[in-house]
Amino acid sequence: MAKTNEKNINGKNPTAEDLAKKQREISVAEFFEKNRHLLGFDNPRKALLTTVKEAVDNSLDACEESRILPEIAVEIIEMSENRFKVIIEDNGPGIVKNQIPKIFAKLLYGSKFHRLRQSRGQQGIGISAAVMFAQLTTGRPAKILSKTSAEKPAHYMELHLNTQTNTPEVLIDEEKEWNKEHGTRIELDIEGNYTKGSQSVDEYLRQTAIINPHATIIYTNPKAEQFIYARATDQLPKEPLEIKPHPYGLELGILAKMLKNTESRTLQSFLTTDLSRVGPGTAKEICDNALIDPKRKPQELTIQDAEKLINAIRKTKIMAPTTDCLSPIGAELIEKSLKKEINAEFYVAISRPIFVYRGNPFQIEIGLAYGGNQSKENPVSLLRFANRGPIALSAGRMCNN
Ligand SMILES: Nc1ncnc2c1ncn2[C@@H]1O[C@H](COP(=O)(O)OP(=O)(O)O)[C@@H](O)[C@H]1O
Ligand SMILES: [Mg+2]
Repeated sequence: MAKTNEKNINGKNPTAEDLAKKQREISVAEFFEKNRHLLGFDNPRKALLTTVKEAVDNSLDACEESRILPEIAVEIIEMSENRFKVIIEDNGPGIVKNQIPKIFAKLLYGSKFHRLRQSRGQQGIGISAAVMFAQLTTGRPAKILSKTSAEKPAHYMELHLNTQTNTPEVLIDEEKEWNKEHGTRIELDIEGNYTKGSQSVDEYLRQTAIINPHATIIYTNPKAEQFIYARATDQLPKEPLEIKPHPYGLELGILAKMLKNTESRTLQSFLTTDLSRVGPGTAKEICDNALIDPKRKPQELTIQDAEKLINAIRKTKIMAPTTDCLSPIGAELIEKSLKKEINAEFYVAISRPIFVYRGNPFQIEIGLAYGGNQSKENPVSLLRFANRGPIALSAGRMCNN
């Protein structure tokens, strides 16, 4: 059925001026409120998984960065049908008071987005998306308790996210006793769906425990079953280093922005200091291929020059990215973890060679356990991890189904 257009006050079809009255900025939060599938909240099952995943990933990242052996407790309580209380508590460094509202109740606020270093969260959407989802589905505020040292009191806050302005609203802000040296505890009430099986929270936490053998994870699911994944090693994973962008991963817009903002005085020094794997010889070759004088000031280069550089980079042979930014677990530890968590007859694990995608290094690690008391129909557990995150369950947003 054809719908007639709205007429303007003169009874005519709307003009560009009429339409202009309806055109306005869309707040990020409002956008994601309507497009929550982009954040990993497209159905109730995924919403529960994403909420747990965002919080647990943050706990693991924060502990790793502060060189703390993680101890994480996850509890999911079924409050009524399709309604869950999700509690995640860690012994991480804690969060300073002023940051708590922004981290949990402002979208697009984070510390990992601008860094080129392996971590679980990357987008800076993370945990605040879970807070917003909780608020949308149950109206309940996020309850956060955090403590940064034994000498300081813990801070307790209840927060709402104002989706029109994308700013936090603090409902409660008080000091609390917490018999813990440091850490963070998050409580969210969400609408969700708890299932068992391959895309479940149970499975995500089991795999996370296996690939993070330095972490202890204590998990109580909505059926009140408790799983204790005790750490298999006291060795913290090697600290991944930050790396500079590899030339092969550069896109035109990114290169143009880097050229504008660099402190390097010449193109030659920009190429060798702001990018990884470019020595003086390679830099000169790139400039030669682009027909641009290496002594030119980066800030003065045009977008056409940047395009020439991108094309020249493609023609130049450049060493693969360093892998210092990766911190694989290693086959030996994966096998050890598997043996601890799965009763099987045969175990094997491997770390595949590193490969590069869009200039970023990746490493796939695989663990397999066969037989034993696993189910007769499917006696195989096959776990795959990319840069230490479970693959089937990774990429919480965008490409997970
Ligand atoms: N449990 C936690 N302990 C300490 N710091 C945390 C914790 N959760 C979040 N943070 C801090 O808040 C930031 C924002 O988290 P998040 O919104 O998930 O984005 P991202 O993880 O992509 O940075 C993190 O980068 C980290 O600095
Ligand atoms: Mg995160």
